[in-house]
Amino acid sequence: MIEEIKRMKEEKNAVILAHNYEIPEIQDIADFVGDSLGLAQQAAKTNADLIVFCGVHFMAETASIISPQKKVIIPDLDAGCSLAESITGDQLREWKAEHPGAVVVSYVNTTADVKAETDYCVTSSNALKVVQSIPADKEILFLPDRFLGQYVQAVSGRKLNIWQGACHVHEKIGDITFDDAREKHPNADYLIHPECGCSSSCMLKSTMYDNCKDIHIFSTEGMINHVKTAPAEEFVVATETGILHRMKKEAPNKKFYPADENSVCEYMKMITMEKLYKSLKEEVYEVKVPEDLAERARLPIQRMLEIV
Ligand code: 13P
Ligand code: SF4
Repeated sequence: MIEEIKRMKEEKNAVILAHNYEIPEIQDIADFVGDSLGLAQQAAKTNADLIVFCGVHFMAETASIISPQKKVIIPDLDAGCSLAESITGDQLREWKAEHPGAVVVSYVNTTADVKAETDYCVTSSNALKVVQSIPADKEILFLPDRFLGQYVQAVSGRKLNIWQGACHVHEKIGDITFDDAREKHPNADYLIHPECGCSSSCMLKSTMYDNCKDIHIFSTEGMINHVKTAPAEEFVVATETGILHRMKKEAPNKKFYPADENSVCEYMKMITMEKLYKSLKEEVYEVKVPEDLAERARLPIQRMLEIV
């Protein structure tokens, strides 16, 4: 199957993009593995005719919006995202009507309909920079993740109106799990995704107490960069456990512990080798955003790609 996938990929001039949470086999066969921002950047610059997106639906949709001339396919259309589902285009339109003139900053984990109502898209790696670049007199609507919003608000010192959405995997990673891990691995660095339920409280601790300097809040790719370059030998990782495969590959002599081994995104795990094979063979399932919607959603995504 691996050989066939590689052969079809060449034949069709296809590229396989995989998120850091995908199962190990998918990560290993992909041409590029990365975080939401890295995957969007790859989709924007690839010369391939066919993009096989091994991730969740909003990521494939983003690729289709920025590369409308390419065919984008996802091996399973049911690979969704609870966070992206936590706000609809209608809900955002209502929220905007209550705050006329406000700047809308949306996390990339949103549907095309929501992006079309957005001024700036952000990922966890550039959310802070984008918020800091908005003139101080502007009111900001930040959505949909409340933990990322609280984190950005705490670090930037900027008052945000925050939508109360959350990812069902990350919101469960709270203080208790984190404190447990701290007892078991006292010499480890702590890597926390800003979508986590504990991210804002950890952030407050790390700025308030000198002895908490080993706490780092990163996007998934930021975590990978950190484990490769940091002097620490052990890491407690507070995010979806699929990332541990990539960490072990990139830093084979170091040790990695999940903050919670049950942090598994069932949507990411829907992409299997069998489905990838079928997807490439039959060129299914196409993700195509209607051009009028794509046109409105493109500008905030382009801004996200420019501010890194
Ligand atoms: P990253 O952009 O950090 O990879 O996060 C994507 C995501 O879905 C986190 O749950
Ligand atoms: Fe969405 Fe959460 Fe899965 Fe990331 S881990 S894709 S935010 S449901």
